[in-house]
Amino acid sequence: MNNAHTPHLSTPGLTPRRPPLASGLPLLGNALSFRTHPVRYLLGLYHEHGPVFRVRLLNREYTILAGLEANRFLAREAGEYLGSGELFGGFALEMGSEIFMVALDGAPHRYQRKLQRRGFGRESFITRIDEVVQLTRTFTSAWRPGARITVFPTLQRLVTEHLGRVLGTLPCGDAFDALWTLLNTNMNVHVMKTHPKWVLRLPPYQRAKARAWALARRVLAWHRENPPVDRPVDLIDDLLAAVDEDGKPFGEGELMAATLSPYFAGMDTVASTLSFMLYAVLRHPDVLARVRAEVDAAFAAGDGTLTADALRAMPALHGLALETLRVYSVAPFTPRTVTQAFDFGGYRIEPGTQVMVANGLTHFLPEYFPEPQRFDIDRHARADRPKVANAYAPFTLGSHTCLGAGMAETQLMVTLATLLHDFDFALPTPDYEVPVLAAPIPNPGQGFKITVQRRRP
Ligand code: HEM
Repeated sequence: MNNAHTPHLSTPGLTPRRPPLASGLPLLGNALSFRTHPVRYLLGLYHEHGPVFRVRLLNREYTILAGLEANRFLAREAGEYLGSGELFGGFALEMGSEIFMVALDGAPHRYQRKLQRRGFGRESFITRIDEVVQLTRTFTSAWRPGARITVFPTLQRLVTEHLGRVLGTLPCGDAFDALWTLLNTNMNVHVMKTHPKWVLRLPPYQRAKARAWALARRVLAWHRENPPVDRPVDLIDDLLAAVDEDGKPFGEGELMAATLSPYFAGMDTVASTLSFMLYAVLRHPDVLARVRAEVDAAFAAGDGTLTADALRAMPALHGLALETLRVYSVAPFTPRTVTQAFDFGGYRIEPGTQVMVANGLTHFLPEYFPEPQRFDIDRHARADRPKVANAYAPFTLGSHTCLGAGMAETQLMVTLATLLHDFDFALPTPDYEVPVLAAPIPNPGQGFKITVQRRRP
């Protein structure tokens, strides 16, 4: 191995010590502390142990890499030393697919990213903003004053409906529960490894899988019967027209699995971020007033809907999205398996080690985000802010950086704008503190409820 090309394996005289292990409980390890406010917990351990340490979460041990150097490593070099296949490969296998992007590494991964870039791009969403506004209105049409909304699960249905429509043209409708079961069971079994494999043989899971497969079949059939002659090309059209690296069309199983990915992509991530965004705006009345003024003006100028131009000129709403992604990052850790040894923070990290790069931890370091605990929607646009590459990483960094980041940002803005334009909401109490539960990605759980006060005229 040539050290000139492997700067992270060059520390002379390194001792084979393992990084420090954070103290925890027998059996549970650090799982309880990690479960609520995981980033806050890791921040404490980072200040105690430095940029590399180990935690135990139930039956699993993870080596945490944290701080700006860790983010830089992830952004620039991690492809050489860290892999995704071991973590997500089981999920891909269960889906019967080799074109499951998160599970791929190296050249096959780059090939798929290129192929799916247009479908997952911001433009796919921008061109259908009005449809998303109307879908949101249909979805909320039964909300009456006094109704209590369980925010996270409700928004999971809404954003999945949006993405199914925008990326694959068919909404998921009542297949949502099946899709949810498929995603969560596989995350728990294959990625988090908190559940045994035999749960995949249980009838409720098998029924959910059959249901999701039936939806995928319908989506593919619809696209074959309705080629994109007088409608925009979407992700599924691109996949149907594509060939693999050997020049062969993708098999039916692979196409079906890829067809389900739009439904999965935002179910946890966008829905959780949107829940925190709604919380943050209601928790800060000054922010609410500014965002609402922008939103009302945009809908008025757009004859009751939103346009792409209006969206580009909404700094308060955009700042709210960026600041929510900073403070309430729903992807603050990037799990990987070490494929090749490297040195980090004075320790050698050996092949086979499970690492989590805590990409969202820098969001709370004052050298990059002054007064990091302060929710400040203007900080991202301030000319004199510290501009440090890789310190802001809500969509992680490096080769697997979220391909739908632009789309997600647009979806967050359009959906929140529509909800705030159409309704007044109230938190349980004005000083309510939202829970942040890591299960598996940070989300506010089932306990976060808001009340519909009135439908706005
Ligand atoms: C706030 C919302 C979102 C967040 C925070 C987020 C975050 C992430 C993260 C951290 C990854 C990398 C996972 C890993 O490497 O282990 C990822 C991958 C990905 N995301 Fe997102 N995501 C969001 C929404 C979306 C949406 C709406 C879409 C598309 C509809 C999307 C599509 C993708 C795709 C296709 C990948 C795979 C990229 C690859 O493996 O190269 N994401 N996302």
